[in-house]
Amino acid sequence: MVLERIKIVQGDITKQQVDAIVNAANSSLLGGGGVDGAIHRAAGPQLLAECQTLNCCATGEAKITRGYNLPAKWVIHTVGPIWRGGDNREEELLARCYRSCLTIAESYEIKTIAFPAISTGAYGFPVERAAPIALGEVKQFLESKEAIAQVIFVCFGADKYHCYDKSVKEMTG
Ligand code: APR
Repeated sequence: MVLERIKIVQGDITKQQVDAIVNAANSSLLGGGGVDGAIHRAAGPQLLAECQTLNCCATGEAKITRGYNLPAKWVIHTVGPIWRGGDNREEELLARCYRSCLTIAESYEIKTIAFPAISTGAYGFPVERAAPIALGEVKQFLESKEAIAQVIFVCFGADKYHCYDKSVKEMTG
């Protein structure tokens, strides 16, 4: 059952004991605030040094680096869409972020991966709309692929956690 392979937790993604964590980066991949800042702080300066070799990342795409001082072996950096009202393909681009990260994870034989709520902070994407997109994309990917054992959505605040939890319940009907 696919939903058994999806977990929603409230916490700090930099503490997750998983094979890979996903970073909600910006297109420069050179760090920032929010979860990007937290991941770089926890991983240490070698993360930025490797990111500097990646030559940016387009919105919706993803690139992988090692995790350095993080418990996670890998960091998959993705660039979410900036919310501009919803008529600029934001939903499609957010969905593509999840697919891009999972595709890379599968190719690196990653079994457990943790996602933050991409774009729902500085990028302003309403979490009520982002959560069903995130869960729907992950569910669809896991339905067709067995390789990834578990996807964990790590919500930093109670409000976002409840939103994701509600979306999962709606998915199970
Ligand atoms: N663990 C898990 N989630 C976190 C953490 C953390 N340690 N810190 C923040 N978050 C959550 C936020 O609460 C939000 O729900 O990550 C989600 C994404 O918020 P942002 O980090 O602001 O990312 P985003 O909205 O995608 O904006 C990206 O912000 O930090 C810059 O460099 C980044 O320019 C890029 C932009």
